[in-house]
Amino acid sequence: LTTELAVRRLATDDIPAAVEIIRGLPDYFTDDVPAQIERDAQQHGGWVVTTPKAVVGVAVVERKAARAAEILWIAVDAGSRNLGYGTRLLRTVLDRLATEGVSVVEAKTLDASADYAPYEATRAFWERNGFVLVDTIDPLPGWQPGNPAAIYVGALSVTVAGRAEE
Ligand SMILES: CC(C)(COP(=O)(O)OP(=O)(O)OC[C@H]1O[C@@H](n2cnc3c(N)ncnc32)[C@H](O)[C@@H]1OP(=O)(O)O)[C@@H](O)C(=O)NCCC(=O)NCCS
Repeated sequence: LTTELAVRRLATDDIPAAVEIIRGLPDYFTDDVPAQIERDAQQHGGWVVTTPKAVVGVAVVERKAARAAEILWIAVDAGSRNLGYGTRLLRTVLDRLATEGVSVVEAKTLDASADYAPYEATRAFWERNGFVLVDTIDPLPGWQPGNPAAIYVGALSVTVAGRAEE
């Protein structure tokens, strides 16, 4: 099944499908998020994972600096979760970012201290893909109160002393 998957850059035409995926996950995304992802996708771009029939997942990625990126949003269609699509999308995005010279990738999600069950699987997803929890910030500017932020970082290349400005 996963051999039929393809990952490609998000095109403007994909944005409505991305918004629908977000709308289909109300336990994860409040109703202000569809408009945010639309804006972020236009501004920063991203990637989609597709089957021959449909866009089944989306990642919106902001380049924060030459060697740093943040995965602003990642989501897989509610009916297609836990089939490996998100992992395939994330691995491809990280490979492409590494090729482009990115060495660290940030992802923010809901911290365990919020005690909200749906996000247990989300944190497990980041951790199984090698991301490391480096901080919990509450409140995080821009996030609604009562949503402690878990800050995850993935390293795509090692930091070598004295070679910071390669
Ligand atoms: C997080 C998300 C992008 C992952 O994509 P996905 O296609 O569902 O994930 P995958 O199928 O690649 O991997 C899911 C893995 O989590 C595991 N898993 C599922 N629920 C779990 C749980 N409660 N605890 C631990 N592991 C869990 C699955 O067994 C699977 O592991 P495996 O690869 O070892 O078999 C997707 O589920 C999603 O859209 N979630 C809701 C939105 C969201 O949380 N987005 C991220 C916001 S930061």
